[in-house]
Amino acid sequence: MTTKHMICAFFLTLAILFGFTATSFAHEIPEVKTTKKGILLVAFGSTVPEGEAAINAVKEAVEKAYPDTKVFLAYTSRIIMVKLAKEQKRFVDDPATALAKMAFHFYTDVSVLSTHIIPGEEYQDLEAVVDGFRLMGEKGTKSGFKHIALSEPLLANGHDFERLADILTKIHAREAKEGAVALMGHGSPHFANAAYSELQLALWRKNPNFFVGTVEETPSFEDILAGLKKTKLKTVTVAPAMLVAGDHAKNDMAGDEEDSWKSMLAKAGYKTNSKLKGLGDYPEVQQMLLDKLAKTWDKK
Ligand code: CO
Repeated sequence: MTTKHMICAFFLTLAILFGFTATSFAHEIPEVKTTKKGILLVAFGSTVPEGEAAINAVKEAVEKAYPDTKVFLAYTSRIIMVKLAKEQKRFVDDPATALAKMAFHFYTDVSVLSTHIIPGEEYQDLEAVVDGFRLMGEKGTKSGFKHIALSEPLLANGHDFERLADILTKIHAREAKEGAVALMGHGSPHFANAAYSELQLALWRKNPNFFVGTVEETPSFEDILAGLKKTKLKTVTVAPAMLVAGDHAKNDMAGDEEDSWKSMLAKAGYKTNSKLKGLGDYPEVQQMLLDKLAKTWDKK
């Protein structure tokens, strides 16, 4: 054996040794309990304190249901995040940033709870981000997770419309007895906007005094007014069908400007009341979200 060959043999042995060491070390890792579960709560966001309170109420409900699991928060609205940073020097993460931080802190199993009402644009964006982190996990990169699952939005199937309609008729039972209840959803140019019409139908099956409208799409305020005119109801209570009673609820729904729902209803001759509570403020809706979150653990 020449010196050259000896050197080669030495390095070959070394490589095999290290190879084995590396392999056995890799086989040891799963033995070590490295599972770290985390929850990421995702909301559209709000710049209004009462709106953020509703999001925090949902977060507290999740923390109560999972006392041993850390709950992180992310917003999907860039406009809101920029506004909070500019005006209040508060920095809320978007979902991609929050998940990257969780991966960096060795979280392995992540459940993402969406608090979006419909599977529209915001939800689809979130789904793409979660899919990206899932792919990174599948490829074994440090930036991914072993398991990641996303909950359905609040209104994802027939059972959800039935359940939310039940909740809404219950929480506004007194107002619906004395008059009409006009619920304000956000609305979206996305096809999922049809969910608001579906919610209207689900509510009408339980109580004809409920009306659903959206800020941006259909059903519109004019649809509500047309519906009201067919009834003998004299009083209308306006309430949000959004997670939070934020900027839209305060201004577009219950504001004093002449184009708010409250003002336009008053102008049309109705006596008005407003309930400034978001869906997230109600324990019944929090429970609905918790049930959606519970399903994400099975999905993994
Ligand atoms: Co808006």
